[in-house]
Amino acid sequence: MAPHQPSPLNADDRSTASRRNFIRHAAVGTAGGTAIFSSPLARHAHATQADETLKVALIGCGGRGTGAAVQALSTEGPVKLWAMADAFGDRLESSLSSMQRANPGRYDRDAGPSLASKIDVPPERRFIGLDGFQKAINSGVDVAIITAPPAFRPQHFEYAVNAGKHVFMEKPLATDAHGVRRILASAAAAKEKNLKVGVGLQRHHSPAYQSAIQQIQEGVIGRVSTMRCFWNTSAPAKNPVKREESISELQHQLRNWYFFHWLSGDHICEQHIHNLDVCNWVMNQHPIKAEGMGGRQVRVGKEYGDIYDHHAVLYTYSDGTTMHSYCRQIRGCKNLVAEYVEGTNGNAELGTNRCTLLRDRKTIWQSPKDPKSPYQSENDVLFHAIRNDLPHNEAENGAMSTMTAILGRLATYTGKVISWDDAFASDRRLTVDAMSWEDAAPLEPNDQGEYPIAMPGVTKVL
Ligand SMILES: NC(=O)c1ccc[n+]([C@@H]2O[C@H](COP(=O)([O-])OP(=O)(O)OC[C@H]3O[C@@H](n4cnc5c(N)ncnc54)[C@H](O)[C@@H]3O)[C@@H](O)[C@H]2O)c1
Repeated sequence: MAPHQPSPLNADDRSTASRRNFIRHAAVGTAGGTAIFSSPLARHAHATQADETLKVALIGCGGRGTGAAVQALSTEGPVKLWAMADAFGDRLESSLSSMQRANPGRYDRDAGPSLASKIDVPPERRFIGLDGFQKAINSGVDVAIITAPPAFRPQHFEYAVNAGKHVFMEKPLATDAHGVRRILASAAAAKEKNLKVGVGLQRHHSPAYQSAIQQIQEGVIGRVSTMRCFWNTSAPAKNPVKREESISELQHQLRNWYFFHWLSGDHICEQHIHNLDVCNWVMNQHPIKAEGMGGRQVRVGKEYGDIYDHHAVLYTYSDGTTMHSYCRQIRGCKNLVAEYVEGTNGNAELGTNRCTLLRDRKTIWQSPKDPKSPYQSENDVLFHAIRNDLPHNEAENGAMSTMTAILGRLATYTGKVISWDDAFASDRRLTVDAMSWEDAAPLEPNDQGEYPIAMPGVTKVL
């Protein structure tokens, strides 16, 4: 572990330097980015009147997408769900019918009885298949909600920005550095076009987190020296879907997207990104290197694709501050989802229930419970920004946190120390912009139906 060394820069300078570095690399590394600025489709967002109906397209109609659509419909002012797109028809129809029954599931406790009246998605605006996102975006909407698996986020976001749409998109924003660079290029284009972009790292919209992190940054617990963060749970909300002989390899992998790292980024990207994002927020910068270990100990069957079931990563920031990160999905172990910050004059315990600052083991501040779900707040903020033309673009931060998670995965898959700069500049692309079921999956199983699993000490990722 690198000894903690005082930085020659103060906190603001450090963060500015770090951000500048990130953006500089992004600009250099983005081949596809220029197309966004020169596209004939490009147009600037117009100012939205307070009483104007905002039409929304939902792309990726799963659990979270359905919840995000309901939250968009629950924001102030007239909003209509106007179009839906999903790779699979059954997913789209079950999302739509659950919203029409005003019973859409776990992410939308604020849904009101008037929900059904805000849904206007006739069959001709339900788009099935891998090119459905384009049709939904081109169906006359103002806002695209992009919640398909993360591998497609760069493709979908790029298209939406190109078409001049405001965007809410879920984390993570990509599964490889190529995707992160594409997201950054589109984020810059969105800024140019005055488009508003929200990202589903909802802790940024929790007053408890906001207040705790502001106090940490003001020095209430002294200088931050080390952090620990955890996303240790029993199992993900996803179960593997059985292989059907009649469907293609690409369809099979998309039905099981969570278990393939080219699609999900592995669970260090899928879930643990929230904790990594909080630690980066505390530091106001991203780490410069990572080393770690991980593997598949329990979830070993071929139905679980190629992702690990545990990762432990030591991240180091530019001033020597360390972040010890753990994520595990194994039943019967201790569950914990939280971040801990050690300062030279106190410490902080951060979590979605409550955030606490302590000194000498005594509480010096504790947040009240958040008055409203941050899932709703993040949409309220986005739609308010659209209606009032306020600056709002969370894509750069989302890209930074996504890259942090990818960096951790590269470290655990290889067992090597990986620098941010090498990881970020990597040309190794995992994903494909699949547009049809005829397209090949970028990963093939062997004749036993098994997928190659990363092996530390052997696997090369850069
Ligand atoms: N912020 C949060 O707390 C939070 C919580 C849950 C999920 N999420 C994120 O939301 C995203 C979706 O997760 P989910 O739980 O809703 O998954 P899900 O499997 O329920 O939904 C994904 C949907 O996308 C569809 N899809 C797949 N490929 C597509 C493509 N190319 N084009 C259009 N649709 C496609 C699938 O058929 C499915 O209906 C993930 O990135 C996840 O990390 C965020």
